[in-house]
Amino acid sequence: MASCNLRSAGIKGIGAYLPKRILTNADLQKLVETSDQWIIERTGIRERRIASKDETAATLGTKAAMEAITDAGMSPTDVQCVIVATITPDYIFPATACLIQDALGANGAAAFDLLVGCTGFVYGLVIASQMVSCGAFENVLVIGTDVFSRFINWRDRRTCVLFGDGAGAAVIAPVDDGCGLLGFDLGSDGSGSNLLKIEAGGSYRPASVMSLLEEAHSLTMNGSEVFRFAVRAMAESTKRALQACGLDTSHVNLFVPHQANMRIMQAAAERLQIPLERMFVNVDRYGNTSAASIPIALAEAKKLGIVKRGDIVVCTSFGGGLSWASCVLRW
Ligand code: ACO
Repeated sequence: MASCNLRSAGIKGIGAYLPKRILTNADLQKLVETSDQWIIERTGIRERRIASKDETAATLGTKAAMEAITDAGMSPTDVQCVIVATITPDYIFPATACLIQDALGANGAAAFDLLVGCTGFVYGLVIASQMVSCGAFENVLVIGTDVFSRFINWRDRRTCVLFGDGAGAAVIAPVDDGCGLLGFDLGSDGSGSNLLKIEAGGSYRPASVMSLLEEAHSLTMNGSEVFRFAVRAMAESTKRALQACGLDTSHVNLFVPHQANMRIMQAAAERLQIPLERMFVNVDRYGNTSAASIPIALAEAKKLGIVKRGDIVVCTSFGGGLSWASCVLRW
């Protein structure tokens, strides 16, 4: 739990990019034993986007970043640092942030990746805001980009219906006093690291014939445990972030939870007593886009005119780690 007391920093520009290909629930019925009704009732998801063969975390992220930079009225050379939140990077190394820095032409900008699951964008936003608040940088680009379709076992109906590909980005820069990031809450509980993971491909279990045969390079998840954690973590973390800046849920104009599952989002909003009309929802169209879900939602909310200057916007997320992250912004 923390608050910010230096110069105000916040979102100056926001953007998103979604691959063109749509995979519907009906399409999934041809791959696994499932139904449109089951998926909608249990998750609220109707369709998701899937990256084409030549699209990667870096290419999606670059497109979202370009939209955010344009929205901020800037050019790539104004960016001094690129932070990329992803758990589906182009490579284990170099960092996807370096690939995006090069593709953008953000000359010499610092660049690094954050690997904290679906919470990565909010972690990045908080880090970037601190960098700008203390005067170290003027403009920091934060990108959430994930191509989960490459790390899904397409024969596992418990996971393959949940995820979609996409990217979102924000330019974090100095903003009017009293606007931008007001408070945040970041945390983790590594004792739950087994509940959601990709086991092979790292130093614990390097790629081998066995790891390929056992399909250990794709996501595994204990759905019901993650569900319980998600509701509790998002509700409690949101409260702590609001408390950090002297606000409560009655002040919230727009609630932007990680778009993982409609039932999780609704349960968290109910615990917080935030009316559902104030909750942003696009999980029905994109599924869980991991680190991209919150910036995609913010970009859509801005385009649709749902968020206005001065509004209190709360973003909250949970993910692998296990981890959680919430931030309170005055738009
Ligand atoms: N279609 C049809 N039936 C299915 C499907 C499917 N796609 N998936 C599971 N089922 C079956 C199960 O096999 C089970 O059948 P059984 O009782 O015969 O064994 C039955 O449905 C119930 O399964 P549950 O897992 O108990 O269903 P639940 O209501 O918990 O919903 C779900 C499953 C949607 C996965 C839910 O647990 C959930 O959303 N969990 C959180 C997942 C999440 O958000 N993960 C993202 C984390 S973010 C990140 O960092 C990547």
